Amino acid sequence: MSLLIRNGRVVTATDNYLADLYVENDKVSLIGNNLDVKADQEIDASNKLVIPGGVDPHTHMDMPFGGTTSADDFESGTRAAAFGGTTTIIDFAIQTKGDSTLEALDTWHGKAEGKASIDYGFHMIVTDMEDERLWELRRLADEGITSYKMFMAYPGVLYVDDGTLFRAMRKAGEDGTLVCMHAENGIVIDEIVKLALKEGKTSPKYHALTRPTRMEAEGVHRSIAIAEVAGVPVYIVHLSSSDALEQVTLARNRGTLVFAETCPQYLFLDISHYDQEEFEGAKYVMTPPLRERWNQDELWRGLRFGDLQSISTDHCPFCFKDQKTLGIDDFSKIPNGAPGVENRMSLVYNGGVAAGRISVNRFVELTSTAAAKLFGLFPRKGTIAVGSDADIVIFDPERRETISADNPCTHHMRVDYNAYEGIETQGFSETVISRGKVIVSDNEWHGRSGAGQFVKRALFSGPN
Ligand code: URP
Ligand code: ZN
Ligand code: ZN
Repeated sequence: MSLLIRNGRVVTATDNYLADLYVENDKVSLIGNNLDVKADQEIDASNKLVIPGGVDPHTHMDMPFGGTTSADDFESGTRAAAFGGTTTIIDFAIQTKGDSTLEALDTWHGKAEGKASIDYGFHMIVTDMEDERLWELRRLADEGITSYKMFMAYPGVLYVDDGTLFRAMRKAGEDGTLVCMHAENGIVIDEIVKLALKEGKTSPKYHALTRPTRMEAEGVHRSIAIAEVAGVPVYIVHLSSSDALEQVTLARNRGTLVFAETCPQYLFLDISHYDQEEFEGAKYVMTPPLRERWNQDELWRGLRFGDLQSISTDHCPFCFKDQKTLGIDDFSKIPNGAPGVENRMSLVYNGGVAAGRISVNRFVELTSTAAAKLFGLFPRKGTIAVGSDADIVIFDPERRETISADNPCTHHMRVDYNAYEGIETQGFSETVISRGKVIVSDNEWHGRSGAGQFVKRALFSGPN
């Protein structure tokens, strides 16, 4: 199979030029002007950007949470991701407390195999780590699971204490893997939640009011401090507030290897969304919660000047009618999470490039290259170069769409609402190519469940 993409503007994290791209089987094999080659399929990309497929390093497909399971599985979720221009996800396998992380990995392979239509990797959520189990982390790395997530939040569920954190971090340092942190002081937050419920404060907005930004900043500060003492780099996931970002900036300024991602929900939505009528605010119950609007400018500043490296989605959808209602009488029982995997690229292009906040190169870096580098996928993923996987998006920088659960061009996720309902975006992923095969064009699906491959990720290779 060969594919020729003619006349596009190739944009990577560093380049921006007009060229033709020739793809043979699953790899980019030639880049040049007026390529004199014959191909099985030819696409004219005049006036379009030709960018590396999005890499979303934070999704939760088929994830058990709060007595239910996230609404997208690997079939529906990766298909929706592809429609939005994302061609690789890194999802989270979860260790059952007391059980082997290797068993958890098998379980997650079982969830994804035969279903995913784009390539995928896994982080491992570590929920306990006794000394006698530490050897498993090296085995995971050999299997291509080169990063872990640990939680300072959700006591009694996913939470790990600081000792566990320190042990796992030291081992990650020995093995060359990367620790990702859900940084929020869950112990204090649980106390605040109990107080609120005692006072009869049960509606969704109290999810936000019981999780102050100071408790996120404290978690970020503490996880960085523990990582510094353990002598390892650390990656903060779903950073939501200026307060928390300040801790990352301080640490980076003193030369600490700290990396952080934020998510579209913290850039485009805010705490006022919890004031919607009746129970509608439950649609935005995610952790960390939406913040005061002014935080958004600070997050954009972090993205622009490099203290934030990546934009993931934390895609973790629960249906409003059947799942969010588990917490109709008690906000603490609303399953945490929101959809977004499909809308990330358009939202970030619109709010970033079209709004003049970041360059088109930085857009590619934030949505693809940085995550590929940090998580051991580069240069196979995250760029367009001879020899790289032909994961390519032909992106129309002018096309406008209004995001809606009712718009067949913006919503393929298996969830009954869209968190970005009504937002008009400029910039759209029109044709999506996964390892050399067109899987989306003209809003039609040409992909196949099961065609996505598990990608073994390399060890952490430092900041680059
Ligand atoms: O609300 C969220 N973020 N749900 C998914 C689990 C997590 O903490 O990432
Ligand atoms: Zn988290
Ligand atoms: Zn998450």
